[in-house]
Amino acid sequence: MLQSKIAGIGFYVPEKVVTNHDLAKIMDTSDEWIQERTGIVERRYAEKHKETTSTMGAKAAEIAIERAGITPKEVDFIIFATLSPDYYFPGSGVLLQRALGMNGIGALDIRNQCSGFIYGLSIADQFVKTGMYKNVLLVGAEFHSCGLDFTTRGRNVSVIFGDGAGAVVIQPTAEKNKGILSTHLHADGEYAEKLAYINPGSHGGVHLGTEKYGYPEQEFGGIFFTDKMYEDGDYYPNMEGQAVFKLAVTKFPEVINEALAQNGYKASDLDMFVPHQANLRISQLVQRQLGLPDEKVWNNIQKYGNTTAASIPIALCEAWEAGKVKEGDLVCLAAFGSGFTWASSLIRW
Ligand code: ACO
Repeated sequence: MLQSKIAGIGFYVPEKVVTNHDLAKIMDTSDEWIQERTGIVERRYAEKHKETTSTMGAKAAEIAIERAGITPKEVDFIIFATLSPDYYFPGSGVLLQRALGMNGIGALDIRNQCSGFIYGLSIADQFVKTGMYKNVLLVGAEFHSCGLDFTTRGRNVSVIFGDGAGAVVIQPTAEKNKGILSTHLHADGEYAEKLAYINPGSHGGVHLGTEKYGYPEQEFGGIFFTDKMYEDGDYYPNMEGQAVFKLAVTKFPEVINEALAQNGYKASDLDMFVPHQANLRISQLVQRQLGLPDEKVWNNIQKYGNTTAASIPIALCEAWEAGKVKEGDLVCLAAFGSGFTWASSLIRW
């Protein structure tokens, strides 16, 4: 069977920098609190009404496509990972396809949040390995800043997230033991609501709109987005931070060790570990558990916050551009997030 490899990688982050001090002007928080608990100093916010999740994805994709030595017309499948799409439907994959003129090829949207990039990598790997596709474009992009609660009520979530996009092109390679060595995907829906964007959604028959506008509630049997729900901020993401933190520091090492064991390696064999940028404290705890020195772990949450599905390709691209991921290096990617979902991949670059 063929192996697949990352043949091109790119990322895009919006120009607008929002510091912790900027957030402290609009909600009750502080630079000290945010840095101490998360490591974040600043993040980027996309320009509303000009940029979208798919336009950011397209910018990252153009770089990845060029670096893979192909043109958009040669891409034969798109995978788009995001939890903050342009529209509720259709998915952002077809919008990216339209923007880059790649009409006619398949476009798959996946919703695996922070693990979305590695889930997408696994899908791309299977398509390429089986010989079905030769150039799969995988994009992770997020526009969080348009859906956060910027009042003090939402501060535990809002200070963490940032906007951006990363992309890779996956191609076949004939070289033995090169490229994507394995991917490992997990989920536990038991914790679904601990980190979730719940409303509007079918779970409660919730419609957008309020009772005021006279929707025929009885006839359709649903409940409406009431004024009280608006007042309570029920349409913002909900996160039980400590529950996420606790499980993340267990599942990260578990899924990394699973990847190492399957390929016959130890943590000390790694040249670079690129964790999903959830929280610097989580990354540091995992680093310690693996016994890795600082130069073998790439963290950039300080500059970009948590960009969910985009965070791994942005960090991997930065590490590669800085010359810290080189030909022949053993690289580990790992993620944990909403679902809960968690995943890892081992790559021989
Ligand atoms: N500024 C100031 N104070 C705050 C803020 C803030 N931004 N946010 C919360 N606080 C307060 C709380 O109100 C609380 O106050 P109280 O003690 O008076 O009640 C206090 O700080 C402690 O709150 P905790 O929530 O217990 O703080 P914790 O130490 O757990 O840190 C954090 C919160 C940073 C969210 C942490 O739990 C965390 O990082 N968890 C992991 C989150 C994560 O990784 N998410 C990524 C997944 S993303 C995805 O999949 C979409």
